[in-house]
Amino acid sequence: MQSRLEIVILLAEKKQRCLEMTSDKNRVVIFDTTMRDGEQSPGASMSLEEKIQISRIFDELGIDIIEAGFPIASPGDYEAVKEISKILKNSIPCGLSRHTKKDIDACHEALKAAPRFRIHTFISTSPLHMKHKLNKSPEQVIELIKEHVTYARKFTDDVEWSCEDGTRTDMDFMCKTVELAINCGAKTINIPDTVGYSIPSEFKKIIETLINKVPNIDKAILSTHCHNDLGLAVANSLAGVSAGARQIECTINGIGERAGNAALEEIVMAIKTRNDLMPFKTGINTELLSKASKVVSNATGFPVQFNKAIVGKNAFAHESGIHQDGMLKHKNTYEIMTPESVGVKQTSLVMGKHSGRHAFKEKLNDLGYMGITDDIIQIAFGKFKVLADKKKHIYDEDIAALVDDSLIKEDNVINLKSLRVFAGTGEPQRADMTLEVYGEIKKATETGDGPVDAIFKCVKKLYPHDVNLKLYQVHAVTEGTDAQATVSVRIEENGKTTVGQAADTDTLVASANAYLNALNKMIIKRKRTAPEEYEQQKMKGI
Ligand code: KIV
Ligand code: ZN
Repeated sequence: MQSRLEIVILLAEKKQRCLEMTSDKNRVVIFDTTMRDGEQSPGASMSLEEKIQISRIFDELGIDIIEAGFPIASPGDYEAVKEISKILKNSIPCGLSRHTKKDIDACHEALKAAPRFRIHTFISTSPLHMKHKLNKSPEQVIELIKEHVTYARKFTDDVEWSCEDGTRTDMDFMCKTVELAINCGAKTINIPDTVGYSIPSEFKKIIETLINKVPNIDKAILSTHCHNDLGLAVANSLAGVSAGARQIECTINGIGERAGNAALEEIVMAIKTRNDLMPFKTGINTELLSKASKVVSNATGFPVQFNKAIVGKNAFAHESGIHQDGMLKHKNTYEIMTPESVGVKQTSLVMGKHSGRHAFKEKLNDLGYMGITDDIIQIAFGKFKVLADKKKHIYDEDIAALVDDSLIKEDNVINLKSLRVFAGTGEPQRADMTLEVYGEIKKATETGDGPVDAIFKCVKKLYPHDVNLKLYQVHAVTEGTDAQATVSVRIEENGKTTVGQAADTDTLVASANAYLNALNKMIIKRKRTAPEEYEQQKMKGI
């Protein structure tokens, strides 16, 4: 809990930041919705611990507003918004609500521990949505806006209002609703391209029309919220800014509903790299972009495509001879921004088995791991020593994988004690496994269709469960046959998903640990959301 003095200082600092955000006419506010809209990507659910880890990085990254969730949607969302609101030092937390008092109350309850917070309330305004989704007339929608924006303002002066399906809304009606929302106290007006239907020239026109036609528009900041169904989310957002919008809603790695949202890293680097044509600024510390991308990818289990702009593995790789030759002669021949500017360091040989704890800790700071407890550092350091005995060269990526692996090993109900796998041609693959389940040691042997199948069957025998395996994925952390493998496993149970991850030089050990990690998270989720069911299963040892 923060002391009164700390809260006063935080408040003063945040006020200063807000002043800068609103007084500099070229300052673009970055509103991140990775943990709300991003989490709405099918299968992208994140645990509370992962959301907290992400929030700490976003806070350092310089994100202005963090939409941490939709508090009324689930107890998990509510808890995440509440916990995140307590820890943010720089960013302002925000929660989403529909136009109901219950939603707004839940937002307020979840956010109120923060010295400053935003309530984001939305309603559909397109003819299609009003008729078929809301079953309401335009007049009824007007009444709802009046009632709920005014209600949200009781709790904070930082209220954002969104017209869902904005880009398919009649322009005169949009102007009317925007004017009303501002009159009722909304300070930010967000225009969503909910279905990713717009194109840059059209989106620009919408923002220009609002600026020209809404009489009180100077009392609010206009915001963009573009989906990527036609691959135009970033282009549309930037077109909106060129027309006068000064907030962009976006997500790390562009995750989000269907084809996703505008990618934060692309927007920020486009503004930075082409500042000659887009003379705007953001508060983002771009050197943390690569780290933020990795943490979000790990938490969601959504890999980043190799050729993804800014944060893809190949974004700064030069393969062809002509390009390599040009790069050696002058970097600018084929590089429009440096890898360092987004936090990609040239893969460097970092440490060996004689490196000490102090150097290890320094390395973690260099890699952008902030606020990690001594316990985790200790666990990761122990693993580093084991790895250094096995593997000749240890790279930054190896260390990052070790730390990520250590961060996710808390509160485990099931732990791997030993694993032997018999694989190869000729006989069925077999796994001998020992697990600790609720403190009890259990052993099993299973054969399977391949070694991974045999391993997963052992887990199922020792801890009977009924989940669907949605994803099994292996990545080599670095080059070479002695590289560590990072394995991601996504499982689903009654509509809830969890993602497990583990790294090891032995791909099969990593596979077993990743599966157990996903199961452990599912058990924690069960404990939070269905405590009675959890207790009953615990009694039965499942
Ligand atoms: O895409 C959308 O319309 C949204 C709103 C809730 C802002 O996500
Ligand atoms: Zn959206």
